Amino acid sequence: MNKKSLDNIDNNLSNPPDCFDKYRHIIDEGLFNCLDSFTHELKVTMGYHLGFNDQNGKLLDKRSAGKSLRPTLSLLVCESLTSDYLPVLNSALAIELIHNFSLIHDDIQDRDTERRHKKTVWTLWGEPRALWIGNTMRSLADFIQSDIELDSDIMLKAADLLSQASMEMIEGQFMDVQYENRLDVTADEYLLMISRKTGALIRSSAELGALHSLDDKFITTKFRDYGKHLGRAFQIRDDVLGIWGDTKITGKPVGSDILRKKKTYPILLSLDIANELNNVELESLMFQSEISDLELEKIISIMSDYEVFEKSQKMIEYHSELAIDCINNVKDSLSKWGYNQLCHLTNYLAFRLS
Ligand code: IPE
Ligand code: IPE
Ligand code: MG
Ligand code: MG
Repeated sequence: MNKKSLDNIDNNLSNPPDCFDKYRHIIDEGLFNCLDSFTHELKVTMGYHLGFNDQNGKLLDKRSAGKSLRPTLSLLVCESLTSDYLPVLNSALAIELIHNFSLIHDDIQDRDTERRHKKTVWTLWGEPRALWIGNTMRSLADFIQSDIELDSDIMLKAADLLSQASMEMIEGQFMDVQYENRLDVTADEYLLMISRKTGALIRSSAELGALHSLDDKFITTKFRDYGKHLGRAFQIRDDVLGIWGDTKITGKPVGSDILRKKKTYPILLSLDIANELNNVELESLMFQSEISDLELEKIISIMSDYEVFEKSQKMIEYHSELAIDCINNVKDSLSKWGYNQLCHLTNYLAFRLS
């Protein structure tokens, strides 16, 4: 990771906002209970990916999982608008299950062997079982979503939103893999791809929080727009961490996006700069069918010469600012705590290290 920019991080931004801690046990308990009715084998594999047990089924003292960003966002938006997070809890759990289904399948598609500091499901148990576990989580999400007594209109809208987001995510994943074989991916195509593969779930998490809180089209739309910009910033930061991150902190491989010819933001920016400056070396390195580790280092060093890290980070901060503009538009409807948490969360994610 670029040392200079790390040193510049405001102390406050290197710490996550309190809402992550506040909702952690509610989310953990909700997900753990979801697994209750499954047979031992299914429970162990899902529990492993969700961080409740090791690969042999032994329960862990402390859950070792991801950030739970999406359910945290849904609960935070709902509580900020109504002082209560319970109305959106089941939808929040459902969206986290869809997210985890996407990760299990994504690791097969990207051939990644490590996630969340441990071996990926397909690496341990093979692809058929990983597909099976991912699909089970996707179905479980629908079951959890509908397992609550709520106003039927809200229930229908929420179910519709989740299905739509899930389909968009799959479409984005398809585009992402197709782009591996293309050299002419445009900035607009990239933005469309990330708005689907990552944006759809993050956007819907924020929108679900508003939908379950009140019947107000203006506020719901603002949260949708907020999630749209947050999703862009989040994926570009993911792209950046995939090149300059520290695997000991991210728990994911570094450099594999370049090796797999993923059309990430820093790669597209580098190709653009190379084109402009007629940098034949960078182009020829990137266009080879196989990239060696030495060539990977060379590509990253040329990227540094062109300040691709700094320029990508600027784009992350640009979208984060647009996201905060949306929050400012509904500030009067939010609790003071909620407003501060949403701003803190947005800024924190722009500089996150994992
Ligand atoms: C990883 O998402 C996949 C992307 C959409 C970039 P997260 O970074 O939210 O993954 P976890 O849940 O914290 O592991
Ligand atoms: C993110 O995919 C989107 C989904 C998983 C749906 P990536 O492939 O960019 O994410 P990581 O870096 O593997 O988590
Ligand atoms: Mg991946
Ligand atoms: Mg992927």
